[in-house]
Amino acid sequence: MPFDTELTRRLGIKIPVVQGGMMHVGTADLASAVSNAGGLGIITALIYPDPEAFRQEIRRCRTLTDKPFGANLTLLPSMVPPNYSAYAQVIIDEGIKVVETAGNSPGPVIAQLKAAGIIVLHKCTTIRHAKAAIKLGADFLSIDGFECGGHVGEHDITNFILLSRARQELNVPFIASGGFADGQGLAAALCLGACGVNMGTRFLCTVEAPIHHNIKEQIVKAQETDTALVLRRWKNTTRLYRNKVTEQALKIERESKTGDFAEVAPYVSGKRGREVFINGDPEYGVWTAGQVIGLIHDIPTCKDLLTRVEKEAEETLRAKLSLVAPAPKL
Ligand SMILES: Cc1cc2nc3c(=O)[nH]c(=O)nc-3n(C[C@H](O)[C@H](O)[C@H](O)COP(=O)(O)O)c2cc1C
Repeated sequence: MPFDTELTRRLGIKIPVVQGGMMHVGTADLASAVSNAGGLGIITALIYPDPEAFRQEIRRCRTLTDKPFGANLTLLPSMVPPNYSAYAQVIIDEGIKVVETAGNSPGPVIAQLKAAGIIVLHKCTTIRHAKAAIKLGADFLSIDGFECGGHVGEHDITNFILLSRARQELNVPFIASGGFADGQGLAAALCLGACGVNMGTRFLCTVEAPIHHNIKEQIVKAQETDTALVLRRWKNTTRLYRNKVTEQALKIERESKTGDFAEVAPYVSGKRGREVFINGDPEYGVWTAGQVIGLIHDIPTCKDLLTRVEKEAEETLRAKLSLVAPAPKL
């Protein structure tokens, strides 16, 4: 057990790695596999059409692991917003101890979770949002750099700057998110001041991720240049795997005279994105992936992945100590 950080201590986990919330992917199967492997697995609440279905998934997860696991609640702009408070209540009723929150205006949800004594890990892409979340009561921040898969924010600050700004500015512990796939990355994040890392795309490409095998093979083939940023025009910039559909969406984004979101909506539809993971055709719709896609070369089990990450991080940190000259004898 080489790592003893604020994250491992407070969450009761062995390896300081969190599996970020993932729409269509973060089910009990993946969450339990990550938790059984020593990290923190997370079930994504909004995969489930209603709070009751989410409750059943939490209960199913309990049959698959006796280790701690968390839930993700993502608050995104929507024509008909889900009943976030009802999902949060299920988390409370079912005794989940840690929640990853993400998105806009998390105040009421964080207040509800904190009142029940739940550890809140809020994910954000700017120091300003991190500070706001601390005021709302967040216990940990997940600092999501521009490399990340999904919502990158509008400021394009990569983790080399963002993590050090977090270390300089924040008075609560933080983990590093975006661009992490191996133990060298974990070691670097710890050196920059984080107490762990969050990984999304890397977990998408594991045996237990509940998606079609073709998509995992596509990730293995892909390079770091194979993502695209869409929806900047609507201030909802999202990093996706680059394919024919993202190219079509980008063309509309560049050329639309009206700027009406309805023109691009059919291309970026979450429903079509979900189909990709079921039918295995990487060109069928848009799907989320980070630049870290270029660092992923295999499809391991979560256990093999996390064992390797832990070993690499430990070896990296120990090996780099030899670069420091011994202190002169006085
Ligand atoms: C397929 C996929 C779906 C995602 N869905 C969500 C989501 O619903 N809510 C959320 O907070 N983050 C979501 N994310 C972001 C991840 O939780 C994580 O923050 C991100 O992947 C980190 O960057 P990385 O991909 O470089 O590891 C998603 C990521 C992927 C790859």
